[in-house]
Amino acid sequence: MVQIKEQIRLQKYIADCGVTSRRRAETMISQGRVIVNGEVVARQGVKIDPLTDQVMIDGKKLALNYRVTKKTLLLHKPIGYVTTMDDPQNRSLVKDLYADLKERLFPVGRLDINTSGLLLCTNDGELANQLMHPRYKFEKEYQITVAGHFDKSDLAALKDGVELEDGPAQPLKAEIKHSHSRQSELLMVIREGRNRQVRRMMMALGFSVITLRRTRLAFLTLDGVQKGSWRWLQAAEVKRLRKMTEGENPCKN
Ligand code: URA
Repeated sequence: MVQIKEQIRLQKYIADCGVTSRRRAETMISQGRVIVNGEVVARQGVKIDPLTDQVMIDGKKLALNYRVTKKTLLLHKPIGYVTTMDDPQNRSLVKDLYADLKERLFPVGRLDINTSGLLLCTNDGELANQLMHPRYKFEKEYQITVAGHFDKSDLAALKDGVELEDGPAQPLKAEIKHSHSRQSELLMVIREGRNRQVRRMMMALGFSVITLRRTRLAFLTLDGVQKGSWRWLQAAEVKRLRKMTEGENPCKN
């Protein structure tokens, strides 16, 4: 399972739990009074994940007191932004687009730097894992512009499925929106989220992608969200996403 890690400094976590100040938490750490996942941590600088790591002070569990307010936003990612939390090449990060928020939200899955569109960002590790888990296969809809004339026979080949290096790939739905000699526009729905899957599917048919935009994830769309901006997901939307992971056929949208 893919794990989203929200790492924060141990002394900040202790302070956030309302136990004491950060400075006094550092002293408690140095005194060997703090245990993380069963091991004494007496050095400074250790980071923990409040959602999964268990912290004890003087034999008392802290996790129960700690409430992370779970928040998820729907971002309209522009091209030119990477979905990682850091970038050694100093490229723009999607998190820069919501840098004013105090919450530390992580992109759910990835969109290529040259892909725009719908991206969820959350501090809800459980929801993120459910959204990314292959078992739940949420529908993802893409608007694709390819170079060249994509005709009915190409569409038939796409619908039959293409062979990628990591196995076959078949869209749930594919249609041609416009087709001209120089470029064509398609709409495609897939349920998987393999690395660069759409681009590789097009490549397998001999087409290179000019633009790629994710326009839908499950029932969520970009309606009313301008490129580069975002909105919070409502509690009812989060509930509906979670509900889709229950039951016999979690793939329904
Ligand atoms: N498929 C791709 O090829 N790229 C993306 O960013 C998303 C899906």
